[in-house]
Amino acid sequence: MTRVAILISGGGSNMAALLRDMVGDHPARPVLVASNDPSATGLALAAQAGVKAVGLDHRAYASRAAFEDDLARALHAASPDIVALAGFMRILSPAFVGQFAGKMLNIHPSLLPKYPGLHTHARALAAGDAQAGCTVHKVTADLDAGPILGQARVAIDAGETEASLAAKVLRCEHRLYPAVLRAFAAKDKSVIYL
Ligand code: GAR
Repeated sequence: MTRVAILISGGGSNMAALLRDMVGDHPARPVLVASNDPSATGLALAAQAGVKAVGLDHRAYASRAAFEDDLARALHAASPDIVALAGFMRILSPAFVGQFAGKMLNIHPSLLPKYPGLHTHARALAAGDAQAGCTVHKVTADLDAGPILGQARVAIDAGETEASLAAKVLRCEHRLYPAVLRAFAAKDKSVIYL
């Protein structure tokens, strides 16, 4: 059985989509959900679903390195084969990422390589793009720049706002991430386009 740890920071709707999918003949099962915010509502959802949920408040640590040491310890204790970042909003150091090289995935709310970083929807609207979307990629030391594992597109309609676009992209994240995680856990190397 492939063991999946999920890192979140907030609502955890992508995490919930992954948990919903990891049942039945799915090759993987969730073993841990961890957050840098102990009040993240996603942690309560995970606990309700019977998954071990851990909150480590990054603000309580003296340094990024000290926070990452504890996070790495919690992750290693769960022996994950895959670490899925799902709305995890802390930048991770190359030393941390290196400990999970090749098995850490992230979902990002843009069509990478367009718009790494924050405010992706506002940037797509300001550029007058006809399409937006989301990307699942392997995490490397470079922010939002690892090899792409899957991408899903949505149309940007006339009158689209940042909020309407965010909602539309989030719905497509909920389809893309489970599809990519399922393929990745099955060691299927094809890139998924939805
Ligand atoms: C999602 O849109 C995800 O793509 C984004 O945060 C949101 C989390 O929502 N992630 C990033 O921006 C990472 N840089 P969720 O907590 O409901 O899954």
